[in-house]
Amino acid sequence: MKNVLVTGGAGFIGSNFVRYLLRVEPQIQIINLDALTYAGSLENLKDLPDPQRHIFVQGDICDRALVDRLLAEHHIDTIVHFAAETHVDRSILGPEQFIRTNVMGTFTLLEAARQYWLAEKMPHGDANQVRFHHVSTDEVYGALGPNDPPFSETTPYDPRSPYAASKASSDHLVRAYGHTYGLPYTISNCSNNYGPYQFPEKLIPLIILNALQGRPLPVYGDGQQIRDWLYVEDHCEAIWLVLRKGRAGESYNIGGGNQPPNLQVVQEICEILDELDPESPHTPHSHLIQYVADRPGHDRRYAINAAKVEQELGWRPRQSLSTGLANTVKWYLDNPAWVEAIRKQQEYQGWLAKNYDARQELAKREERK
Ligand code: NAD
Ligand code: TYD
Repeated sequence: MKNVLVTGGAGFIGSNFVRYLLRVEPQIQIINLDALTYAGSLENLKDLPDPQRHIFVQGDICDRALVDRLLAEHHIDTIVHFAAETHVDRSILGPEQFIRTNVMGTFTLLEAARQYWLAEKMPHGDANQVRFHHVSTDEVYGALGPNDPPFSETTPYDPRSPYAASKASSDHLVRAYGHTYGLPYTISNCSNNYGPYQFPEKLIPLIILNALQGRPLPVYGDGQQIRDWLYVEDHCEAIWLVLRKGRAGESYNIGGGNQPPNLQVVQEICEILDELDPESPHTPHSHLIQYVADRPGHDRRYAINAAKVEQELGWRPRQSLSTGLANTVKWYLDNPAWVEAIRKQQEYQGWLAKNYDARQELAKREERK
């Protein structure tokens, strides 16, 4: 692997992956294709290690001519596909963009890879030396009941939000290209990530940023929903291991094994902030917790069985939830310029109003009943 096309590399996990790869692989050249939607930012790519091995291209993965050109011009032998619309709440309020980017975008990349790697023949190697890695989610498996075993690679797909359905659809397309055309691929289905550079629409950074400003900390429903939290750098390490050592045509589940209810995650963040910022006028931050109207169709529980990646490839997460959360809170405190740049975005302020105003109103009406 020499010339890697990373899609969505200005987003949360993609930018962490770019940073990770530049650090651990001194020979690799990265082409980073990202449309810079609301979720992507060049702020995420500042201070890269060895930046001359990273080329940023602003563009859309649905733009076939652009993708064709990048593959040929840069002799791409590896594609790591992160680019997607990723927020469940946004997919509920506006699913169309999810179908376009997640389904059509993945299809466009697969077609371009098939053409370049398999039809035109690689200029510098055969099909065994190329790989399409698709970054996917555990949400394709649906939701677990309290006593169900965690998701394994053979759990049937049962997506329940437009986001999950669009990701499931893209996973199926990737597998179909493997079976039908012999495209060498791997898929990783990972649980909820958190860590530096995460856009503050997702639970953990949203809670940190709201708490810093003394704003309400919105907990959906009863706060007893369960996610399997993984520190982002552990995910990046797993992806790179799957790419180097994983078997083509296989999927690998990746998870942190940390499965507290949401309310506990929020409380832990509050405690870390109380400790790191004892002078804050908002201490104790847990007083800011506010129950708000639940997400429609809210998946109750996710949990990952990561035995395959652990046993086959020797991967283990390095961070526990408490060390990972402490690192994360500290990162947001240490990077006020990043936080301000995102907070200033009109789009972000609009999203907060659109998603939370009605929820808080509903919750208040429930209280009055
Ligand atoms: P993100 O929303 O932070 O970033 C997505 C990036 O994709 C942004 O930089 C955006 O500009 C870019 N993008 C969107 N549409 C594009 C298009 N049409 N063309 C080019 N670029 C486009 O997402 P993330 O949290 O970093 O997730 C990355 C991948 O990992 C996604 O495929 C997601 O499904 C998957 N995943 C995420 C999590 C998680 O907890 N965040 C967990 C498991 C899997
Ligand atoms: P989120 O970070 O949006 O990830 P996902 O929906 O992909 O799991 O949400 C994580 C959990 O936190 C999920 O159960 C929904 C819940 N949640 C809240 O309770 N309040 C919030 O403001 C948000 C954004 C999420």
